[in-house]
Amino acid sequence: MLIRYKKIFEKIAMGLLSFMPEEKDLKKLQQTVKQYETDENWHLFLWKANEDFIGLIGFVQTDENTLVIQHITVNPSHRGQGIGKTMVQSIQEMFPDKQFKPTETIASFFQHCKNTEGSA
Ligand SMILES: CC(C)(COP(=O)(O)OP(=O)(O)OC[C@H]1O[C@@H](n2cnc3c(N)ncnc32)[C@H](O)[C@@H]1OP(=O)(O)O)[C@@H](O)C(=O)NCCC(=O)NCCS
Repeated sequence: MLIRYKKIFEKIAMGLLSFMPEEKDLKKLQQTVKQYETDENWHLFLWKANEDFIGLIGFVQTDENTLVIQHITVNPSHRGQGIGKTMVQSIQEMFPDKQFKPTETIASFFQHCKNTEGSA
């Protein structure tokens, strides 16, 4: 289930975001979380399963119709179980009238999700 980010999830979100290749530096990570908290065009969601937060997906609205996914991570213990793909599908279902695009970092996984649409 996708849960919208709140300040109380800051540490969990930072832990998950740190798995992104470009979020290894602590200062950058703190800036990224701050921007999700303060910029009305930046939106962050956590994936909750069995009371645990095990994934994260974040996007930025670049124009009225376009949402660019810029962060997606899954806790290493839970990878390869379809959670990443489910988050991509769920976020698109949550905003059905918007067009989703990936950043360069996400592009290959986003394409993989599209290519395997309809399969588990
Ligand atoms: C990328 C990530 C979110 C995938 O999460 P996940 O829950 O393991 O993904 P799923 O189980 O839904 O999908 C796994 C499938 O995606 C493929 N995949 C994983 N990362 C991929 C990538 N960067 N590009 C293309 N395909 C990728 C896997 O090979 C696997 O394929 P299969 O189903 O044919 O075996 C996870 O590996 C992660 O957190 N990585 C670190 C963060 C990161 O680097 N994010 C940016 C890149 S998207």
